[in-house]
Amino acid sequence: MGKRQQSFGVQRAACSIPVFDVRPQYLALKEELDAAIGRVLDRGWFIQGEEHAAFEAEFAAFCGARHGVGVASGTDAIRIALQAIGVEPGDEVVAVANAGVPPIAAIVETGARPVFVDVDPATRTLDPDLLEAALSPRTRAVLAVHLYGQSADVDRILELIRPRGIALLEDCAQAHGAEYRGKRVGSLGDAAAFSFYPTKNLGAYGDGGLITTSDDGVADRARLLRQYGWRRQYLSETHGISSRLDELQAAILRVKLRHLEVANDARRLRAARYTESLRGVITPAEPAWSRDVYHLYVVEVADRDGLKAALAERGVGTGIHYPLPAHLQEPYAELGAGLGSLPVTERLASRVLSLPMFPELPLEQVDYVAEAVNEFSAAHG
Ligand SMILES: Cc1ncc(COP(=O)(O)O)c(C=O)c1O
Repeated sequence: MGKRQQSFGVQRAACSIPVFDVRPQYLALKEELDAAIGRVLDRGWFIQGEEHAAFEAEFAAFCGARHGVGVASGTDAIRIALQAIGVEPGDEVVAVANAGVPPIAAIVETGARPVFVDVDPATRTLDPDLLEAALSPRTRAVLAVHLYGQSADVDRILELIRPRGIALLEDCAQAHGAEYRGKRVGSLGDAAAFSFYPTKNLGAYGDGGLITTSDDGVADRARLLRQYGWRRQYLSETHGISSRLDELQAAILRVKLRHLEVANDARRLRAARYTESLRGVITPAEPAWSRDVYHLYVVEVADRDGLKAALAERGVGTGIHYPLPAHLQEPYAELGAGLGSLPVTERLASRVLSLPMFPELPLEQVDYVAEAVNEFSAAHG
């Protein structure tokens, strides 16, 4: 099983329990998926055809948004959405540093400047108490990441930014189907960005991304920006490059979308079982506002590297999401948020560990992993 693991800092040693595995889902849905792929091949139409249009509409409806705009990746979804909501070179966009490099890389690509804000130690999402101090007259948008499958505290963010005319972009790359106070993420701000990287809760068999929004103007600009500024083929209304979600991926995603809620429930069941059994580690917070979809099940522990090694010895794959916060990555050092500037983010980076989590993970393997963690905890106080 370990051989099939994707990247993302996943242990590549021979593991009997991988941190995630996309293969069982394919085998379970093989007939539907093969038929969908065959349909596209039979039609011979691969870019922006009927599968793409249908998926855009179906996924937007799933999120409770009016529009869906397919793009080539989650990173592009963030970049294009920011541009579509009016972010320009020289603007500031407030963002967290504990969600990997992609959100920050996307902001930099727009010519705007990322301004980092620390996260809440319990929820690991943007700390609304620290947001006001990060805002300036140049702030054009806040990028809130719904991390690991749990929504950020959106109302408290909106309360601060709405009166100032600052936009909210949700990064939903890890939260397809998650809810905030009974509403699906992807419908809570001015626009939202999704990734369909293969291991995501809704994953393609390649790259893909999508922007949701209920703002007609934002949707229109995003559609222009994703393809050379074309409203009509070959006639550019504005500068744009090519960032498209292809027909094959759209057809695959349409099939998987029909099974997403069942898969998210299966993740919740596994998460609840971990949370009930684990001892000696901090388990994910479950704030009352969030209905989590457990893209990752991330625990916190002082001797993270020791636990990781002990689990590897027992054949358990784990991941670290993420080992080096974005503000400490070389290309972003010039932004001036040096070591010590985001104490919670930095502390988490040395303590977080992702345990195996995917909808088909056998429950007895969840129990085996929990037992291995508990043995480590008992031996290391
Ligand atoms: C939080 C977050 N934002 C953005 C992205 C970027 O998505 P993609 O890899 O599709 O560009 C990812 C996934 O890598 C992510 O986890």
